[in-house]
Amino acid sequence: MLLSGLFRSAVSHSVRQIRYVQRTAQCAGGSGAASFTHRDTPDNNDETPFDFTPENYKRLEVIIDSYPEGHQSAAVIPVLDLAQRQNGWLPLSAMNKVAEILKMPTMRVYEVATFYTMFNRKPMGKHHIQICTTTPCMLCDSDSILKCIKEKLGIAIGETTPDKLFTVTEVECLGACVNAPMVQINDNYYEDLTPKDMEEIIDELKAGKIPKPGPRNGRFSCEPAGGLTSLLEPPKEPGFGLQPGL
Ligand code: FES
Repeated sequence: MLLSGLFRSAVSHSVRQIRYVQRTAQCAGGSGAASFTHRDTPDNNDETPFDFTPENYKRLEVIIDSYPEGHQSAAVIPVLDLAQRQNGWLPLSAMNKVAEILKMPTMRVYEVATFYTMFNRKPMGKHHIQICTTTPCMLCDSDSILKCIKEKLGIAIGETTPDKLFTVTEVECLGACVNAPMVQINDNYYEDLTPKDMEEIIDELKAGKIPKPGPRNGRFSCEPAGGLTSLLEPPKEPGFGLQPGL
């Protein structure tokens, strides 16, 4: 009895730990249900004014023309992206406009917009900070970067600053693990971060500047931090070493 009690206790303890480690934006930020549901609000309903600008209508033509006749609905992702870039986020009325332009059922557009986390269906700050806390970034101390962001901006994950300048979300791997820890801010990646780097980046954004994207530890890209270990000399010419006639 005692042993089985201990076993149960150990199991429940490890389960708690596993759940803690795996908490991400979907549960920690409380946005899980919001990722696929819609509730009309005064600023997000099917009567919220939205239309593409004349300039973006020209862009739409180019985007849609690059798909074969009869397959224009394949343009749904770039067209939704254009709507989001124009408006800053995607209200229901923008999705309806996309459906109208691409001659698709609105539900098909909602399915795409709710599936991909790149589409934001609520108002966002001017600078959307997405912090990766997946394992490689976590092992490189993404916790300290997240703590720095929260303290510097005074907001929690999923929230926007009162001045509408910043929104913070916690995301899964952004594909830059070799430069962990990292954040994506709008279209830019900031990598090899320390809390001090993060503070400087936020300060520059607050000052209206765009900080230089990329690694912050002196690396050019994702080469080994201690210097190159291969490809140390210019490549040899094609065919070098082949015997004549081969
Ligand atoms: S784990 Fe953070 S970018 Fe891959």
